[in-house]
Order: sequence, then structure tokens, then C-alpha cells
Amino acid sequence: EKGPYRHFMLKEIHEQPDAVSRVVGRYIDRAERTLAQSPPLSFDFATLPRMTVSACGTAYLAGLVGKYWFESLARLPLDIDVASEFRYRQPPLQPGGLAMFISQSGETADTLAALRYCASNDQHIASVVNVAESTIARESGSVFPLLCGPEIGVASTKAFTAQLTTLACLSLVAAKERGTLPDGAFEKLIDALTALPAALSQALLASDDIAEIARGISKAKDVLFLGRGALYPIALEGALKLKEISYIHAEGYAAGELKHGPIALVDDTLPVIVIAPSDELTDKTVSNMQEVRARGGQIILITDPKGAAIHGSTAAQTVILPQVHSFIAPIVASVAIQLLAYHTAAMMGADVDQPRNLAKSVTVE
Ligand code: M6R
Repeated sequence: EKGPYRHFMLKEIHEQPDAVSRVVGRYIDRAERTLAQSPPLSFDFATLPRMTVSACGTAYLAGLVGKYWFESLARLPLDIDVASEFRYRQPPLQPGGLAMFISQSGETADTLAALRYCASNDQHIASVVNVAESTIARESGSVFPLLCGPEIGVASTKAFTAQLTTLACLSLVAAKERGTLPDGAFEKLIDALTALPAALSQALLASDDIAEIARGISKAKDVLFLGRGALYPIALEGALKLKEISYIHAEGYAAGELKHGPIALVDDTLPVIVIAPSDELTDKTVSNMQEVRARGGQIILITDPKGAAIHGSTAAQTVILPQVHSFIAPIVASVAIQLLAYHTAAMMGADVDQPRNLAKSVTVE
């Protein structure tokens, strides 16, 4: 079943171009360069006062990227929290809001409890799920399926990029209905999403370079991941993936937070992975990178050809991903952090598909 791959995780990483292509095909009419006709929703994006997202683990981090998209493109305020905190906090919810739940399995106990709390507080319920017949899907007014087939590896990969792609598409649906995008911007974002499957295929070609970098990472005791804007949740996901399967301690930070504490950790034994494809925030992130370098930290820069040409010399090692629109850059960068975690863990001989202490679906509280 693993085909030519050593682990399910590696197979699932390579299934991502197809998985996101199915999602894009569902929401986007490639020929007409517009949104596809989608089934009616149980809520109306145009009049929503706000949106609340709850999820756990990697699914939560997908939602965190979604916050950047929904707020900047659709001007829709989005509150997000991990389901295990949200459910016990008894947050006040404005009637008529949208509550969205993200879950690969659709059975995560805390996420389901958060859903039931929102359902009893006059919220429209929507879910982004992979398992279509799951409890979370059954209890939702609108279901956005991930269409990525069974995910076997405990470490979520293709479900994560399918979640991101679904949220990216939905943020465009919301932006269109709310009329928040300036002329011409909408088509550019549609084109960006249309280009996504090919960009992910190209990103996979960085696998050998990343395996080389993983050699050094596998000897580290701690690793720091930095990112800004919508790349910040990808830094968190990079740290989560690495911890989960290689058991190396890792932390993700917003690049701008570095000087507020974590910089104290930096010395010449600490690899610092900076996720900075070229965009309007790159210069700021690069100045954080220089602060790390000045203290002897080993920088691994994940960027694109433009970013590498300008800033590559600051880094000890560079991963070059395809040049894409900044809208989809977090999805493309996900492939790099997944491969980094994978190669590190595989090199260390870890049980990549069944990491210790973890279950695929967390149905206990
Ligand atoms: O099935 P779910 O998406 O609700 O699961 C949520 C988390 O348990 C899950 O994403 C977990 O963090 C993964 N093992 C991460 O790789």
C-alpha cells in the first residue's frame, strides 16, 4: 500500500499535489477564472458578524493561517482557539455568527464538544473534515470535505494542506460575497490557487536538499522555527511536526517575538529555521535573522528564488521553493517543513508512521 515509499507519511506528502488539486477544482472554475458554482451554504458570508474557529493540533494551525486570509481578504473578524480551551471558557457568542470546526478525523473529542457548545449558542455550524461520515460532519449545517482520502500516518500532512487550501478558497468565496477586494485582485488570487498543485509538485523536488539539511538537524537538541504573518503558523507547524516524529525539542515563534525572550536561547548549537519567502515582510524577518546570526545561531532559510538571491548569504543553508503569489506561500512552505521533519526522523530510525505516545484520532478528553 505504501508503493515505492518507505513510510505512509512520505507517500502522503507526495500525494499533496493531487489532494490540493481536487480541492481547488471544487471551488474554482479554472477555465472561466472565477469561483465554481458551489452547493448552497447554511449561512451567508455577506452578513456574518464574525467567525469562530476551533480545532486541535495541526488542524488548529490550519485555522490560524485561515485567520490571516479571512481577516485580510474578506474583512471578516475571526476568533480562533484550541478546542480544549474554547470549550471550557464559555465564551460569549453573538447570535447568528459562524462557528467553524477543522478536523481530519471528524471525531476529536474536544473539537466535538466545542461544536456542541456553539450549536447551543445560536451559531451556524460548519466543518472542514476529511472523514465525511464522521460525527463532526454529521452535526454540521455545512460540510467542506477535504477530499484527500485516508490519512494513515499519525503526523498529519496531506490533510493539513487540504485544510489550508479549503480555507484559502473559502476566504475568496467570503471576499467575493462581501465585496472586499479591489478590482483585479480577485482574479490574481484565483490564478494563484490555480497554480498551487504544480507549485507543490515543484516544492517536492527540494526533498534531497532538505534531506541533507536534516542530517544536521538530527544532531540538534533544540530547534527554533521563525515566521511572520501567515508563515508564523507554518513555523508552529514545523516545530510540531519535528517534535512529534523525531522527538527533538522544537519551538515555533513569530519572528518579531524573537527579541522578547527566545533570543536568549541562541548560540552556535541552535539551528534556527527561518520561513521567509519573498513578500512585503521579508526585510523585517531578515533583520531578525541577522540578530540570530550575530549570536552564532545556524540559520536555515526556507525561501524562494527572489528571497535566496537577496538574503541567501545570511544563511548557512537555504531551501529554495518555487516563486509563487504570497497568498499560497504558506501552503507551499508546508511541504518543506514536513519533509524536514520526515527526513530527520527517518534518519534517526524513528517509527515515523506510529510515533510514541500518539494516536491518530484523539477521542478522549
Ligand atoms: O483529527 P483531527 O484533525 O481533529 O486531529 C487533530 C490533532 O489531533 C492532529 O492534527 C494532531 O495534532 C496530529 N497528530 C498532528 O500531526
